Amino acid sequence: MLVGKLITFEGIDGAGKSTQIQLLEAEFNKLGILYKTFREPGGTDLSEKIREILLDKDNLELYSNAESLLFAAARAQLTVEQIKPAIAKGECVICDRFTDSTIAYQGHGRGLNIKNLEIINNIATEGLTPDITFILDIDPGKASERMRAESPDRMEAAGIDFFQKIRQGYHQIMEQFPYRCIVINAEQSQENISKEINQIIMKRFKEELTCS
Ligand code: TYD
Repeated sequence: MLVGKLITFEGIDGAGKSTQIQLLEAEFNKLGILYKTFREPGGTDLSEKIREILLDKDNLELYSNAESLLFAAARAQLTVEQIKPAIAKGECVICDRFTDSTIAYQGHGRGLNIKNLEIINNIATEGLTPDITFILDIDPGKASERMRAESPDRMEAAGIDFFQKIRQGYHQIMEQFPYRCIVINAEQSQENISKEINQIIMKRFKEELTCS
């Protein structure tokens, strides 16, 4: 049985994380794996309030350092209040975004110092790192076509160049952590992506999944 793993999903806006998370949940339900799913920023009352500030398109004066610290505050609360207790109970945790989002968006996207962001991330998570991270990789032009948001939030309004930098940032993260991070071509059909993700999880955690 698969217990106590932290599985994170990353990628630019419109990469299709939510659909893939739903498909993984369906697979876990089928296999009887206990799990909890959270989205970042969010997942606790306080973190959801911070989310409203972060995504409010009227908050255009939000400085990048303040933005980073707000993401970190939301993550700190989520980690202690929800993620760590769930893992301690043996549940798997699926997280829609985690620390890599801060490195990709605030580091590579906004150009903030990555070493500093790593320290902030480390404080927020008390050193907790994902067991496996799926980076859904897609061309920003295609992702924005997919979203076609009628009313883009503050982050989505940033433009294609910003998302190009974030995409490259994710590639660098993958090079830095080749065992933890798996890049998935998110331009394939949802069904193929899901199959690939399920197979990778089966392979990576084979022993735990078969010794139940
Ligand atoms: P959301 O609507 O949840 O987007 P998505 O469905 O793509 O995850 O909004 C979250 C936004 O916040 C998204 O644009 C990514 C951004 N973000 C950061 O910039 N840094 C972070 O650390 C996190 C967690 C998210």
